[in-house]
Amino acid sequence: MQLDKLVVRFIFSSCCLLPSTLLARDIVVNPGEQIQDAVNQAQAGDSVRVMPGLYQETVYIDKDDVALIGVIIDGERAILDGGEKELHDGIIASGHGVNIEGFHVRNYRSNGITTQGANNYRIHNNIVENIHLYGIFPQFGKNGLVSQNITSNTSDAGIYVGISENVDIIANEAFDNALGIEAENSHNILIEANYVHDNAVGIPVVIFPGMQTKTSADVIVRNNMVINNNSTLFERSAMKTGRGITVTAVDRVTIEGNIIKGNSTCAVCINSLSSMGGAFPVDAAVEPEPDHTSITRNVFVNNGYQAVGLEVAGATIKNGADIVNLARGRGHCAAASQGATTLGLSRWADCDPQLSSAHVESYLLAEPVVSQALSRTQKAQLTYHAVCSGCHSYDHTMIGPPMIVIQALYKNNPQGLAAWIAEPTKKRPLEQFPAMPPQNYLSAELRLDLARYILNEVGAR
Ligand code: HEC
Repeated sequence: MQLDKLVVRFIFSSCCLLPSTLLARDIVVNPGEQIQDAVNQAQAGDSVRVMPGLYQETVYIDKDDVALIGVIIDGERAILDGGEKELHDGIIASGHGVNIEGFHVRNYRSNGITTQGANNYRIHNNIVENIHLYGIFPQFGKNGLVSQNITSNTSDAGIYVGISENVDIIANEAFDNALGIEAENSHNILIEANYVHDNAVGIPVVIFPGMQTKTSADVIVRNNMVINNNSTLFERSAMKTGRGITVTAVDRVTIEGNIIKGNSTCAVCINSLSSMGGAFPVDAAVEPEPDHTSITRNVFVNNGYQAVGLEVAGATIKNGADIVNLARGRGHCAAASQGATTLGLSRWADCDPQLSSAHVESYLLAEPVVSQALSRTQKAQLTYHAVCSGCHSYDHTMIGPPMIVIQALYKNNPQGLAAWIAEPTKKRPLEQFPAMPPQNYLSAELRLDLARYILNEVGAR
């Protein structure tokens, strides 16, 4: 990074020609240079502007209010490429108030763009493809916008919002993924005006047991096009194909105004945790039934013509329907006026024709979340929830082994655990566990604090 590439931009307040307190800089990155070098120089308010070309690195943003902008010229973008999936993550942000836009992110082994414990983020107008785990993955944060991105070919979710609150996911396209757009263990999520097609499951809304969040509620799935989600590209037992929108044990999910067409098992499938055929661990603290689902004003065309892996009361069913209910729960309704074919809906009410989610225009907060200064232990705790708990639960095997196993392995050995975090090796059979991504972007001090936190503090609750 040369100094002549630093363009200093003064921002004058509009009333009087005095510089405001904001002194924002543009830091320009050209092909052949490292984006990370520019991020290291950036301060709050700065924009790192990356010119079109090829970049092969993992960019880590651990500071607040930095924009990382891929400059698009004549349709050419800055491409972040993980090689033959040698690199784990494209962009990782743990700072608050980051804005990530304009990139083409491809061929990474874990995630394309991920935020970890960050609030007030915006992920806009990126193309993310061929990613092993999640395309766009905001984890453990509040008040975020994910808009106008295109994600494809991820072997898990194209867009996956986990343990989050107040997130809008607007006008994205997700296709050829195992899951299109997933909201998991989250609250106040608006999924609107997206085009979700040719995934195995289009829009799953789910609570996953065994995490520290024991409830998930208030998700609006509105005005989306959910088309032909019949892909078998990444089929797995927990992700049976042919499903447009699924609700699994989440409360107050509103499914309104969508066009749902050509999904072979169901347009909408409602599940309890126990109807998922053992795909989820048992967690006594999680209520297994969804409550208060409402399904109104949708257009259903040609769904449920050939069910895949659909079992009702132990019997395999050949034909699905527009709306398939495999759960119990209370307070559900489906509007009769939609003319949907249904299975298992005899106890549902007809929705009140006045019922509408129009009063929720957005779940974004009027004011940004104000972040507190954290002590070292609090930072370790946040990192545990924002990074590790995406793959490790306390007492269940998720993507990695459970924490109780890890606590036994590293008893009285925080140094050993900290060393593993930085440079994990391949220990367990690949059929059961993928490789763990190295977390060496975390500082040595934080890794050791984190190891101590895991060994001394992490428990069942
Ligand atoms: C993307 C998923 C993922 C994330 C995120 C992740 N891990 Fe792992 N972890 C794994 C997998 C998979 C394994 C098993 C790897 C193997 O044994 O080959 C593993 C194994 C481990 C082990 C076992 C080491 C041993 O000696 O057997 C420890 C300790 C561990 N992870 C700690 C952590 C910590 C701490 C974090 C958070 C900073 C973390 N992991 C984040 C997936 C992940």
